[in-house]
Amino acid sequence: MDITKYQHLQTPFYTYNMDLLNKTLEVCKAEANKYNFHVHYALKANANNEILKAIQAKGFGADCVSGNEVLAAVKNGFSNDKIVFAGVGKSDKEINDALDADIFCFNVESKQELEILNELAQEKNKIASIALRINPNVNAHTHHYITTGLEENKFGINHWEILDVIKLLGVYKNIKLIGLHFHIGSQITDLNVFRSLCIKVNEYVNMFEEQKQAIRIINVGGGLGIDYVNPDEHAIPNFEAYFKLFHQFLEIKNYQEVHFELGRALVAQCGTLISKVLYIKEGLQTNFAILDAGMTELLRPALYQAYHKIENLSNTNTSEKKKYDVVGPICESSDCFGKAIDLPITKRGDYIAIRSAGAYGEVMRSGYNLREANQVNYEN
Ligand code: LLP
Repeated sequence: MDITKYQHLQTPFYTYNMDLLNKTLEVCKAEANKYNFHVHYALKANANNEILKAIQAKGFGADCVSGNEVLAAVKNGFSNDKIVFAGVGKSDKEINDALDADIFCFNVESKQELEILNELAQEKNKIASIALRINPNVNAHTHHYITTGLEENKFGINHWEILDVIKLLGVYKNIKLIGLHFHIGSQITDLNVFRSLCIKVNEYVNMFEEQKQAIRIINVGGGLGIDYVNPDEHAIPNFEAYFKLFHQFLEIKNYQEVHFELGRALVAQCGTLISKVLYIKEGLQTNFAILDAGMTELLRPALYQAYHKIENLSNTNTSEKKKYDVVGPICESSDCFGKAIDLPITKRGDYIAIRSAGAYGEVMRSGYNLREANQVNYEN
């Protein structure tokens, strides 16, 4: 990375490599097209307007989890009939906004939500298409904060409720079941986990069809992980193996469509948080490199003990290295990007890159400590 191009920008800031984003989108699209799979981009990973425009331009659908995400998707050109709306706690206003936008599908997560959606659709004299989010009780083997498909999690409808839900579908006239939805977690790097998911999905689809409920849409969610350790070697995730696995293990009938909701895999590697070193503080065991970026700009390390590769862009001489705890300026001990990180000799004013920050980075920033919102940069 060439730091001269950053010198007019106020640190900290996010920079997005739009070339890499576009290449990633193209590879994903080409691999999904091999099997006629449909991919919705999960806006929660990054809802930056420029990123959204680039993704919709490649023909992706949108996966939204709030009314504002639905509005952002529409505003940035995603076609309404490719928008799905998920989430355990949709408010009445959010549901009404999505009904007004005539979105493709509501992913419904509970019996009570079904009742409310039916009522609100009835008031508008509309029929809402729905997919039921099923909790398949598959362990994603990822960080417990980003595991969603276990019975202990709040997400989805559990198997013991399914027959009740099917009865309700017969009663509620303003909703129409079109599919089933699953999402078991995020940053999943072991593809075997998805194979276990496919096996469960087949069972649930059969169970519904035995109950005379045609399942046209099979939405398997997102969750494909990325390589945080080697972002340059694996800049584009292995979409080929990922989609092939679903093709191999899902039993798909000719009237069924398979849908995906990918977030991280599409946007993580194109984003970098650029920061400057404010101070170096020498300790007995380790040195601290205190940055002008903190957990307010990138929360993942503090919240999930997530690893992001850290690089000194100003000094690339790796022949002499020291260990640094790379920390932010926020008054919290968890405001730390990495402990005992080997870096070239680092000094005040050096530019530091925190890599793979395009997903769940900018979008999760906060104003804690009255931090200012940052600039954003786009490059090719
Ligand atoms: N679909 C549903 C229903 C989801 O809940 C999520 C993510 C996705 C799709 C997209 O998953 P992805 O392909 O990005 O893994 N903030 C955490 C990740 C939270 C994921 C929440 N749900 C992090 O920084 O690791």
